[in-house]
Amino acid sequence: MKPMNFRGRWVLITGASSGLGLEMARLLAKEHGAHIIAVARREDRLTALKAELESAHGVQVLPLSADLTKPGDAARVFETATSGRTVDGVILNAGVTYFGHALEQQPESFDAMLATNITSVVRMSQLFGAHFAKQGGGGALMLVASTAGFAPLPYQTAYAATKSFVISYGRGLAYELRKAGVSVTVFAPGGIATEMLSVSGLDRKFKAGDVGIMSAEACARIAVEAFVHRRELSVPGVLNRFLATLMKLLPHGFMMGRSAALYEGALPKEPPAP
Ligand SMILES: NC(=O)c1ccc[n+]([C@@H]2O[C@H](COP(=O)([O-])OP(=O)(O)OC[C@H]3O[C@@H](n4cnc5c(N)ncnc54)[C@H](OP(=O)(O)O)[C@@H]3O)[C@@H](O)[C@H]2O)c1
Repeated sequence: MKPMNFRGRWVLITGASSGLGLEMARLLAKEHGAHIIAVARREDRLTALKAELESAHGVQVLPLSADLTKPGDAARVFETATSGRTVDGVILNAGVTYFGHALEQQPESFDAMLATNITSVVRMSQLFGAHFAKQGGGGALMLVASTAGFAPLPYQTAYAATKSFVISYGRGLAYELRKAGVSVTVFAPGGIATEMLSVSGLDRKFKAGDVGIMSAEACARIAVEAFVHRRELSVPGVLNRFLATLMKLLPHGFMMGRSAALYEGALPKEPPAP
């Protein structure tokens, strides 16, 4: 497929209020001249992003506050985004994790994770996939997964399972939509220095500047390149690609042991007694 030209075209990004989503929005506006539909819950941050990008790069930004755990918000985002405009690119990046013992994740936390990481992604992929196909092709969709989705990951057990779903769903969807000229990119980063680390407590172990932890800016650059060039799978960084290959080649039991050992000392509490 030919690379996308987003100059003067609309790209929607979920999770644009911080981290990877925010940096992808900045890059798409600055270097690709894209108009941005910025989706997240924190409206103040989206309004600040609008002011920043419109004055610095002369693009248009539509801040669209939505809570993707709420039934109906994914459809509302689609209706608002496509009302009176054509959307040519969509990056489904919003996501949440839970770091700790799987038995201790509260039902509300799991339900919110499922809705954000999976249900809203499927709903918006369907709506925007159909929108792109109806336009006669040319649209680009990107789903943000994680290297955590390539193998089971103790202590981020449910999160890794949601990202496995995203990888599998995105790759299947890419095959189905290819004939319609619609690209689906699965982007699977390893650790990134974002709020996700501090919100989950992962920052007790992993910090900006550590080996294997990318800056959000560096990661966004690779993500945007994969999105624009419509690659089907992108894993940023040599170390992450090496680990992803090991996850395919080595027994999962061995890899789980290595990953679990990495988290030692950073878990919120001792494991529940057997
Ligand atoms: N950080 C990592 O180490 C890492 C590694 C691999 C993959 N990833 C993936 O990268 C993606 C971006 O994460 P990040 O690291 O940039 O984390 P982040 O800084 O915490 O950003 C997460 C974004 O998702 C939005 N979001 C969360 N829940 C939402 C909801 N219910 N409705 C709407 N928006 C919601 C947040 O906005 P509001 O709070 O304003 O709603 C925020 O903009 C995620 O899919 C994550 O799984 C991250």
